[in-house]
Amino acid sequence: MEKATLTIGEQVIELPVIIGTEGEKDIDIQQLRAKTGFITYDPGYGNTGSCSSAITFIDGEVGILRYRGIPIEQFDRPNPDFIEVVFLVIFGHLPTRNELSEFKNMLRENEHLHESMKHHFEGFPPYAPPMASLSAMINAMSCFHPELLKLDEEGSFEEASARLISKIRTIAAYSYRHSKGLPLMYPQPDYEYCANFLHMMFSLPNKPYKASKEIEDAMNLIFLLHADHEQNCSTSTVRMVGSSQANLFASCASGVCALWGPLHGGANLAVIEMLEEIHKGGLSPEKCIEMAKDKDSKFRLMGFGHRVYKNYDPRARILKKACDKVLDKLGIKDPLLDIARKLEELALKDSYFVERKLYPNVDFYSGIIMRAIGIPTEMFPVMFSIGRLPGWIAQWKEQNEMPGAKISRPRQIYIGETIHNYIPIEDRK
Ligand code: SDX
Repeated sequence: MEKATLTIGEQVIELPVIIGTEGEKDIDIQQLRAKTGFITYDPGYGNTGSCSSAITFIDGEVGILRYRGIPIEQFDRPNPDFIEVVFLVIFGHLPTRNELSEFKNMLRENEHLHESMKHHFEGFPPYAPPMASLSAMINAMSCFHPELLKLDEEGSFEEASARLISKIRTIAAYSYRHSKGLPLMYPQPDYEYCANFLHMMFSLPNKPYKASKEIEDAMNLIFLLHADHEQNCSTSTVRMVGSSQANLFASCASGVCALWGPLHGGANLAVIEMLEEIHKGGLSPEKCIEMAKDKDSKFRLMGFGHRVYKNYDPRARILKKACDKVLDKLGIKDPLLDIARKLEELALKDSYFVERKLYPNVDFYSGIIMRAIGIPTEMFPVMFSIGRLPGWIAQWKEQNEMPGAKISRPRQIYIGETIHNYIPIEDRK
């Protein structure tokens, strides 16, 4: 089908049809307003394609997720490597051994923060929300790397990407250390990406911390499962901000702010709080399910449901399996995992959830593994940000390189007052 026909009153227009490489069907409405004076109305953009992209494919009905065409399940392998996926998502192909080692060297060269940046942490109170300091410090990077505000020099995009990917770890660890009154631990150049992050989080000057292989693998898996997810709320925010030609640091800082919301990246923290509430006896799983179904309760089963997945989120499937493996290897018995499983069992046989196609999403099990690794719960959305950063960078680059890229500026339906006159204050009642 090449064209869609739209009849509005007497007017009949034809609109081009675009078919994606995986058979998705789009009606191109770029000429709709010019030809008919009408715009479309789609709050939340559930039916609106904001762009074309070659980075990530999701089939929500079936529960498929692929990075540059590779099924997500194939990255759940021995020695999972987040940085290999970072390279794939940003540069579009799996790196050769040489490309990967060069990229890892670039990350190593960029793992430190400018010494003056370190002092910014002193300005945050210990109770500062980690996502607030993360977005602030990512934005602050634009003050310390002015030469990377415009990425038109050869190699400057790669440089800016490496600095962001490498330094986000250091920023996250330093903000955590500052909040606990602990000394900042400098990066260990001979540690791999995740081991280095966990060293900066948990080492003490007199007691170095070197993550076990199990923990390092679990951290790599968690990060890579979050690497990109097409046009989710935070990625769409990065694209929106980037469409004004704002620099990469400012655009990614805006992604952190969008991800912070409990309906999005903040859900992993909300899931653990919900499970802890049940564990403390404040709630039973059955009561939880009932409240989630009761519109008046405002309660949601956090970690369940998804705008796109109307099937099991493939990332949740991998993380659920990883929960058993990691906790078993670490000899941890976490009652919250049993509660999560019980909630899933109850929900998946309850017509409310089945009819609405509400399944566990990426946030339902990720927190249990992060708890087992020792990540403090308040840092969970920051972990999501570290994982999602390559996706934000890749999508920002793809948009900026799109021929004819325009500033994003949606329309609206005005429902306010029609025209009337100003009334001087002395005449107001
Ligand atoms: C992420 O977009 C992405 O790709 C996001 C993400 C990514 O990788 O970037 O996958 C990461 O954000 C995962 C989602 C994390 N959020 C949560 O777990 C919070 C709990 N989930 C919900 O708030 C909700 O499911 C959303 C926000 C995720 C999706 O909301 P939608 O698509 O707007 O769905 P909806 O609110 O229109 O719900 C449809 C129906 C409603 O009931 P009815 O009005 O039809 O009677 O389902 C109900 C909702 O009330 N519903 C839930 C529910 N989620 C939806 N009811 C109880 N508990 C829930 N969790």
